[in-house]
Amino acid sequence: MLSTELTSQQKRERTLKIINNVFNLNVIPKVVFELIKALDNPRTNAMELNKLVSHDQALITKILTVANSPMYGLQRKVTTIDFAILVIGFKELKNIVAAISISDALRNKTDKYLSQKDFLLHSYMVGSAAKKIAKDIGLQNTGEAFICGFLHDIGLSIIHRYMHSSFVRVVDLMQTERLTLKEAEIEVNGITHEEVGSILLDKWNFPNEIVEPVLYHHYPSQSQSSPTMSSIINLADFMTEALKIGELYLDRGVKLDELTFNKFKFEKELDAEKFSTNYKDLFWEQMEFVRFLS
Ligand SMILES: [Fe+2]
Ligand SMILES: [Fe+2]
Repeated sequence: MLSTELTSQQKRERTLKIINNVFNLNVIPKVVFELIKALDNPRTNAMELNKLVSHDQALITKILTVANSPMYGLQRKVTTIDFAILVIGFKELKNIVAAISISDALRNKTDKYLSQKDFLLHSYMVGSAAKKIAKDIGLQNTGEAFICGFLHDIGLSIIHRYMHSSFVRVVDLMQTERLTLKEAEIEVNGITHEEVGSILLDKWNFPNEIVEPVLYHHYPSQSQSSPTMSSIINLADFMTEALKIGELYLDRGVKLDELTFNKFKFEKELDAEKFSTNYKDLFWEQMEFVRFLS
């Protein structure tokens, strides 16, 4: 049967099956789970942690890059994992390690449909912007905001790597038929990238506070338990587009949800664009910082 003859439900089921297969592939290295477990245990000491990450210089570099990035605003340079634990804390470091490792594990080769570098920059920018917005509105869990932002489009990465022909068809439909990303995704996969990402994050045992904002980053008003965080991600995503810094072409025309308008007291999109300009310097600073990551 041709895929065009499948019903929406059948397409959805087919995609869910692929997601399940991705989960069964154990794409996340075992050491990452060991690391997450170790960071979850308050009795783990820095020495044990060092031992776990010591084999992976690239991971250490990335952890230190995040710790030293302008969003933490630290005066002293963080040069060791021990010091990173001290300034960032175990819980936040655990989330950072988990997010970076997962995004690394899911990386694919760059092609004309998705540049891995652009995707990584977009992830960092939405994460950093979300963390700053969360801080500015007085939230405590700003570390979670970074992770939610960093992982918000992880579904796109999964589709690009494991359902590549679907990814190509989605882009093609967007360009030839002028469909929105959501319309094209539903047409091809019967499911959106938000769902794909959140289903896998849930299977990988990420907490609901991270899974839900990933699921609702385009529609925070549908979120039951994390509407504020979902709105923050919605706004941070919009800001990359409004400021044209770290934007992703697939997000072009990304809309702000009604809840985001209400939460940030925007009356029209122009208010959100004006609001975004307050973050321009931070965006540039952060962008300069992560640009060399690949
Ligand atoms: Fe998205
Ligand atoms: Fe995005």
